[in-house]
Amino acid sequence: MSPDERERMTIEVVEVSPNVHLPPPTQSVQSEVFRQLLQQAIRIADQANTQAVRMAQDFADIYRREQAIRSEYEGKLRELRIMEGQSTRYAEDLAEMLRGERDRRMELERALEQERLANEELRRTGLQGISHLLLAATIKDRTTGAHLLRVRRYVEAIAERLGLPREKVEEFGYSSVMHDVGKIHTPDHILQSEHHLSTEEFEVIKQHCVDGEVMLGDARFFETARAIAREHHERWDGRGYPDGKKGDEISLAARIVSVADVFDALTSKRPYKEAWSAAEGMAAVAAAAGAQFDPEVVSAFQSLESDGTIERIRREVASSRLG
Ligand SMILES: [Fe+2]
Ligand SMILES: [Fe+2]
Repeated sequence: MSPDERERMTIEVVEVSPNVHLPPPTQSVQSEVFRQLLQQAIRIADQANTQAVRMAQDFADIYRREQAIRSEYEGKLRELRIMEGQSTRYAEDLAEMLRGERDRRMELERALEQERLANEELRRTGLQGISHLLLAATIKDRTTGAHLLRVRRYVEAIAERLGLPREKVEEFGYSSVMHDVGKIHTPDHILQSEHHLSTEEFEVIKQHCVDGEVMLGDARFFETARAIAREHHERWDGRGYPDGKKGDEISLAARIVSVADVFDALTSKRPYKEAWSAAEGMAAVAAAAGAQFDPEVVSAFQSLESDGTIERIRREVASSRLG
């Protein structure tokens, strides 16, 4: 019951109470007072009843709201518990994945290390194979070791100038020395001929490119060497041999070797000719840029001449055991 209602009830009771102190009433007066008192009691009882009903409704409303809040809270709590369970599972899964990942990485590292060792072994074997092949080729062809060493150094310098990574520079270098390895199969009288070769003899000479590629087998270590052996007489304009490949169809390694090999042949003394000067050799190479040679390779080679690298290589090889 609100304070207003309580006050109203008190006022109504007070309005009636003065009648209680009146002089002894007659019977009709008494019944009138009783009637009024009764009506008042009924009114008060009604009001109290209404009030009680309202209070009960209020209580029921509050109870319902509390129940709703409580069930909402319990729902949230359940969701939280589910989420917590899920997070725990996720964390466990993640930890499991990380463990698996770490194991796989370690396995991979072990495999890589094994591969590195195997490659190292292969490389050593390959390099030994190269020196045997070269020995055979030099005996047969009278190609000097100095020619091969200069070609190798030019090739490495050009590859480096073109911005190739260190491993490629090294690979192009050691592969370049096998460019004429197929000449082992070329008959001596043709190889050592001091006169101009006939068409038939030239056809036989051409075969050294194909023979070289075959001799170098199928090991990955000799992949570049095979390309060089096959393609080092191809020309940028497609008029070379044995396949008439042109431009980018020719491997970069072979395009580089082609420039270095021709330059060194021109600037070396051969049974049939005197050695040209470096300037004359370079002029001939420059004149053939875009026809016989890849122009980019030629300009890298020219820049090596401008900064004195070519001259330095020639000097160093000349003063080495091979020169
Ligand atoms: Fe050749
Ligand atoms: Fe050569």
